[in-house]
Amino acid sequence: MVAKTYSAIPQATSSTLIEVEVNISSSEEGNIIIVGLPDTAAKEARDRVKPALYNSSLCQQKQIGLITVNLAPADIRKEGSSFDLAIAIAILGAFGQIPLSILEEYLFAGELALDGTIRPIRASLSLAFCAKNSNKKGIFLPEENAPEGALVSGIEVFPVKHLSQLVAHLQSPENSPLPTININPEELLNSKLENTSDFAEVKGQESAKRALEIAAAGGHNIILVGPPGTGKSMLAKRLPSILPPLTLTEALEVTQIHSMMGLLKPGHPLITQRPFRAPHHSASPVGLIGGGSNPVPGEITLAHHGVLFLDELPEFSRIALETMRQPLEEGWISISRASASVTFPAQFMLIAAMNPTPDGNMIHESKSSRQQIQRYLGKISGPLLDRIDLHIEVPKVSFKEMTSLKPTGESSAQIRERVILARQKQSLRFEKLGITCNARMQSREMRKFCNLNQECLTLLNMAMQDMHLSARAYDKIRKVARTIADLDNSDEIQPPHLLEACQYRNLDRQVWSYSY
Ligand SMILES: Nc1ncnc2c1ncn2[C@@H]1O[C@H](COP(=O)(O)OP(=O)(O)OP(=O)(O)O)[C@@H](O)[C@H]1O
Ligand SMILES: [Mg+2]
Repeated sequence: MVAKTYSAIPQATSSTLIEVEVNISSSEEGNIIIVGLPDTAAKEARDRVKPALYNSSLCQQKQIGLITVNLAPADIRKEGSSFDLAIAIAILGAFGQIPLSILEEYLFAGELALDGTIRPIRASLSLAFCAKNSNKKGIFLPEENAPEGALVSGIEVFPVKHLSQLVAHLQSPENSPLPTININPEELLNSKLENTSDFAEVKGQESAKRALEIAAAGGHNIILVGPPGTGKSMLAKRLPSILPPLTLTEALEVTQIHSMMGLLKPGHPLITQRPFRAPHHSASPVGLIGGGSNPVPGEITLAHHGVLFLDELPEFSRIALETMRQPLEEGWISISRASASVTFPAQFMLIAAMNPTPDGNMIHESKSSRQQIQRYLGKISGPLLDRIDLHIEVPKVSFKEMTSLKPTGESSAQIRERVILARQKQSLRFEKLGITCNARMQSREMRKFCNLNQECLTLLNMAMQDMHLSARAYDKIRKVARTIADLDNSDEIQPPHLLEACQYRNLDRQVWSYSY
């Protein structure tokens, strides 16, 4: 007899539905063959499923015969151990132990231990979305992963501990009902912010804090340049504390990615805070961008809807930095391999930090030769710098400021309130355009929303000549000025907004001009 169950290939964004067909033919051997492009872990299901069935007293050795398992569609690679449960249930369906009609209505996902216990898997949230999109009634998931699946509304999610418990339920849902689990993601999202580091702890550096506020308000990429020990890393790590909260759609997207990579903390089925990823500069291009023979997401995808912090920017591999140019522009990365081509989301805010010279000092105080400075700065290409809207200098803090006992300025919560208001203005502005913040404006939107009056145009012309700014700085200044105007609750860009935006190009002349 042939029986069919459903499972799905765990993927970072949208999982693909898989049909698990089982045929049993009589044979002395007692063997399971799995076809349909399984990888090693999926193929080894045969060595887990057989003992799990025996040890749960669900079938006997002599019953087995020759079992053929077909994972369809056959042209997509099936990775991992999460198909075990669907295979075991389909085998029991083929034996006639479970009514076939009920198997049509659900998805099954879980790894089997040899005694029939169901072990946790990855990407349960994405699997539950697949169940919903395939119009299934619900999904059976390992107990540990079920809360994640329960974030998807409109389907039944059953946590399962042991194979025999699931079989009893499928044989007679009335007599052995498995409880479903319900979770309201909105409630989780509104729960209190975890304790994060606060901007109030940073002494001085008022202009750097202001630049970070603008970056957060408009979703702009930012680079901090300064000598060692001035608080660049300290400032960057506090950026998440002033970012606007995740929307539910964003939180679910972030959770799917982190769940796929096995990064969810136990007891926290939904990621409620924007990710902050700070890979070390020794990270490989694949680690940073994503890839591998079976492509997996890299740091830029783990930072989706959050922050990617690249400390000591010139120390990163040039290839990795250059490959980041496309995702910085587009908000996604496409990886092509012989086995598959996948696209991962990568809408992140980049914050980079670096010293201005190899010895750390500002250029006019540096002991390095001009060539050494050129070589050091040359590691960061012009096109990459072009994708960073705000460039700021983080100078040394005076001894007086460091040792002062007086309060150190605003808290993160105060700054965040202004950021949220500015983002609300942007949400209204871009409502029908599919973008979320000023940084994501393309030239069409800029023509519409970043118009400059005559006074501003004259000022900008003068500033650009004075500061020797290139044409490419022109768009950046207008974008940043738009955000400054939003923080000021002004519909029009006014001269003070524009002048402040020009300041964030100071390094064009002071530092970057040395790199060529
Ligand atoms: N403005 C500041 N306010 C309070 N503490 C500071 C400030 N600047 C530096 N510190 C102290 O100095 C330490 C080092 O700062 P941080 O690591 O942020 O410097 P950095 O600019 O990143 O240096 P490097 O270029 O060497 O990476 C911090 O952990 C903090 O204790
Ligand atoms: Mg540092």
